[in-house]
Amino acid sequence: MKITKASHSNIDQVNFDNLSFGTLFSDHMYLCQYKDGQWQEPEIKPFGPLNLTPALHTLHYGQAIFEGQKAYYMKDGSIAVFRPEMNAKRLNHSARRMMMPEFPEEWFVEAIEELVKVDQQWVSQKDGFSLYLRPFMFGSSEFVAARPSEEYIFCIITSPVGPYYAGNVKVKVEETYTRSVSGGVGSTKCAGNYGAAFYPTNEARKEGYTQIIWTDHWNHELVEESGTMNIGFVIDDTFFTPPLSDRILAGITRDSILTLLRDNNILKVEERRIKITEVIQAAEEGRLKEAFGMGTAAVVSPISSIGYRGKDYELATPTDGYAARIKKALNDIRYGEVEDPYGWMYKLNPVHSL
Ligand SMILES: Cc1ncc(COP(=O)(O)O)c(C=O)c1O
Repeated sequence: MKITKASHSNIDQVNFDNLSFGTLFSDHMYLCQYKDGQWQEPEIKPFGPLNLTPALHTLHYGQAIFEGQKAYYMKDGSIAVFRPEMNAKRLNHSARRMMMPEFPEEWFVEAIEELVKVDQQWVSQKDGFSLYLRPFMFGSSEFVAARPSEEYIFCIITSPVGPYYAGNVKVKVEETYTRSVSGGVGSTKCAGNYGAAFYPTNEARKEGYTQIIWTDHWNHELVEESGTMNIGFVIDDTFFTPPLSDRILAGITRDSILTLLRDNNILKVEERRIKITEVIQAAEEGRLKEAFGMGTAAVVSPISSIGYRGKDYELATPTDGYAARIKKALNDIRYGEVEDPYGWMYKLNPVHSL
């Protein structure tokens, strides 16, 4: 791998006390090109513009996929990435469905390792901070014809982020628009899934909501996801979350939380189809204790109110509740406050002291 270092670092210009998610990028990026049927030699180079043609395939036909994950500064002074092989696998799941070439898993993990090492001072030591990593791939052939691109670019850029407080999350149960369909691309991180969600989300915002609870495309009865997060409900002493399908993204946070809940006997866990009417009934009977989204950006995002058919159902978001406890349990592993029994933290080695 060729590594070209930036002549100077922009880190001095960063106000770490005032970071806005995903708007500021570290000094370097990773690039690898696919052509003639194979991935070429990758390189790490200074972050900067790509020289692209207006006939760029992805701008017309949307073969574009991405990932999202984080690197953490740990208590023992090491830097580690959370479960990077899971993101590598998920990227390739997206690639297959979008008729794009898979990127070798070992290359993916090595790319992250080398890139984060080059920009290690961007992994802030401040409490709750991390370096957000954005791997992505797009069709880069120069032609406008509706067939798969022949060339692709795989790139990783990184962005420092602080703790994420979503505030009061008021969600609306969506009964008009649909995020994904059976047989579709909902379980992939293809760019179009996100572009198509902006309009319905904005409509919900106009009504005073912060986010949408997506429901099934047949008759909007089953709960699927909350915005760009997986969703779960604490009803009585059980945590309910919809099962994975080709309509739902297999969240790595979701998987990790289910493991922690099961192994520590915090709550019973049921992965099963959940009707929104069940949730509303539980809310009316006082059995819906908490509801929250699960995802890399916020880890856990407690829902304070659910809007369904014109009525808002208020929920508790206790600071010592399940959502808060789960978030702490996961963050404690990520920042090395407790042992990592699952080997989730991929430590970069060797990282020299900062
Ligand atoms: C649609 C969707 N669901 C769920 C998630 C949560 O996935 P993860 O926990 O891997 O960040 C994300 C974020 O990546 C997402 O975009």
